[in-house]
Amino acid sequence: MKIDFLAFPYEKNKLSPFISDETISFHYDKHHRAYFDNLSTLLKGGELENKSLKEVILVSYNIQELKALYNNAAQVFNHDFYWKSLAPNIKPSVYVLGFIDKYFQSLDTFKENLKKKALTQFGSGWVWVVLNKDKELEIISTSNADNPLVLDFAPILTIDVWEHAYYIDYRNSRVDYLSAVIDNLINWDFFEENLKKYLVD
Ligand SMILES: [Fe+2]
Repeated sequence: MKIDFLAFPYEKNKLSPFISDETISFHYDKHHRAYFDNLSTLLKGGELENKSLKEVILVSYNIQELKALYNNAAQVFNHDFYWKSLAPNIKPSVYVLGFIDKYFQSLDTFKENLKKKALTQFGSGWVWVVLNKDKELEIISTSNADNPLVLDFAPILTIDVWEHAYYIDYRNSRVDYLSAVIDNLINWDFFEENLKKYLVD
């Protein structure tokens, strides 16, 4: 298999106190790892064994017999993207702020919209900042394992809103988890890197 398990992108205690070591030990070491191990088992010896993660997701999307493969592959992609979307102590650059102002008027409005979209995602899922086909910035949410790749959007940033992302630290309070993450842990460097990557493509 060509796909690797993501090495955690920073020291695991760096997201504390907003996301605790205990949450990471369950979320990354158990949930994320289980999706990866399931994917590895499902791909073994099959036609898609040597495809990239994105290819596996796109090929298996909406195919009933490949539902388990799709769910595990998409959840591996989503979690890889989530951990990279978080980091402590990073401020948005003037370039990023200019982009945000253009589509959301201000950073505060952007944060409010992101939080609102994440709160109104019913049940398990993800909130995403994406570029649409016209390369305009948008906020969308997806259910369960779905992600922007299958909806023809370019992913820029994501936040996991499955309960396992916040239940240990915030119990049932998705809003407190979102406030902590949005105000303190957005990896604006990753945001900028993705913006530039997809705007050039
Ligand atoms: Fe998760």
